[in-house]
Amino acid sequence: MSILKVARLGHPVLRRVTDELPLDQIRSVEIQKFIDDMIETMKEHDGVGLAAVQVHESSRITVLEVAENPRYPKKPEVPLSVLINPNVTPLTDEMEEDWEGCLSIPELRGRVPRYKTIQVQALDRDGKPLEFTASGFHARVIQHEWDHLNGKVFLDRMRDLSTLTYLQEFSRYWLEK
Ligand code: NI
Repeated sequence: MSILKVARLGHPVLRRVTDELPLDQIRSVEIQKFIDDMIETMKEHDGVGLAAVQVHESSRITVLEVAENPRYPKKPEVPLSVLINPNVTPLTDEMEEDWEGCLSIPELRGRVPRYKTIQVQALDRDGKPLEFTASGFHARVIQHEWDHLNGKVFLDRMRDLSTLTYLQEFSRYWLEK
């Protein structure tokens, strides 16, 4: 497995609306290796999610996992999942704000409103259809990664930029102890 180079804000790939991955390509050796590399890259950087555009591939593939994570301590766990061509539908108008960061926007955190509960349809890494509801932090991570597939980053979703914070100041002033 390889650690892939992460695109940072300003790289045009992050602003592209990505293409659906054809079903017959999902099981190819290249895509399977790419998914493994995405997982490895996410773990290397202590991310809780990664979208293909963040590693310079304009494709609708995301990986996520929330476990013991120094970047996001005390968050409910989400098992390692691969979501391909995901579709997200809010199940409520209710939104909640919480802190987000992004491996493509290193060092910064900000408060982002997200739908509390969503319905997710996607394909897994074998091309099998998945359908489930997600809420809270799990739903937040999926909405964040889904935005990447549509050329958006969390800054675009902030109500205003007044909570934008460097990580060091975040740990000093805002991290719930
Ligand atoms: Ni991100």
